Amino acid sequence: MASQIDARGRLRHLISLEEMPRTQLVGLLDRSEQFLTAMGQYPASNQALAGRTVANLFFEPSTRTRASFELAARRLGAEVLSLDVSMSSRAKGESLLDTIYTLQAMQIDVFVVRDAQSGVPAFICDHVAPHVAVLNAGESHLNHPTQGLLDVLTIRLHKPGFEQLVVAIAGDIQHSRVARSAHHALMTLGVGELRLVAPPALAPDPAEFASAILLDNIEEGVAGADVVMCLRIQRERMEVSRNPDPADFYREFGLTPERLALAKPDAIVMHPGPMNRNVEIAGSVADGPQSVIEEQVTNGVAVRMAVMQAVMETIHG
Ligand code: CP
Repeated sequence: MASQIDARGRLRHLISLEEMPRTQLVGLLDRSEQFLTAMGQYPASNQALAGRTVANLFFEPSTRTRASFELAARRLGAEVLSLDVSMSSRAKGESLLDTIYTLQAMQIDVFVVRDAQSGVPAFICDHVAPHVAVLNAGESHLNHPTQGLLDVLTIRLHKPGFEQLVVAIAGDIQHSRVARSAHHALMTLGVGELRLVAPPALAPDPAEFASAILLDNIEEGVAGADVVMCLRIQRERMEVSRNPDPADFYREFGLTPERLALAKPDAIVMHPGPMNRNVEIAGSVADGPQSVIEEQVTNGVAVRMAVMQAVMETIHG
């Protein structure tokens, strides 16, 4: 299988944060910070990808990630092709690889890929030309590396010093690629304590998260936390009969103001989106003073600019 790093240890593709060395992860966060400007100022931009073409291939729905990659590519001077996959020839039976080879023949430099099936981004890496990069924009329940980067960047901007932090991720952990990528990044950064809080029906296999504390009680999970991240129920990844009732979920598990009051007074509240208000999080908490949810979105563009610039530097020097 193609590696996401080249023979010199540089980022060549981005598939997962699982085995990313700490220096590379921190380097991407530092690079991302350089692309942040204050709201109301012009967004950061340069011409690092001038003349290059980025293709967005989203075989699952997306608002944030797709728009964020598109803006990031444009702010680096690239052309962007966002394929309408429901209207593409894959819907007529064309294989994924034939779609990739067809677009590659139009001189695509970067494929940004989201797919419901595990292994698709790595499979594409194995088949693209030597000058082409593949970036994982969400893979089944397994990986969402740019989300993981933007999440730890957001935490770092508010609470530098991961070793001192208690981070609680609450909700449907079992089906969440966001939780997995956050887990990979937080472990690499040496987080003090990571709590994964889920009702029993949505709890993950403990073996997969050996270094985290698994809990099924939201009050216990949130108590004393510095960071509380809420996750939605991933209904698209479970049978309808297993879908929890939204009102029951909110009553037993939702992040209400009363539950948030159990966390540290200066705790930040995160959510990757899309958000279901008054299911996994109260609307007043999502909009409240501790929420950094919109900052996560802003930071996502900077992270995607950093990742695209890094892989293009690896390929073209
Ligand atoms: N956080 C996230 O992946 O959101 P989208 O599904 O809207 O891209």
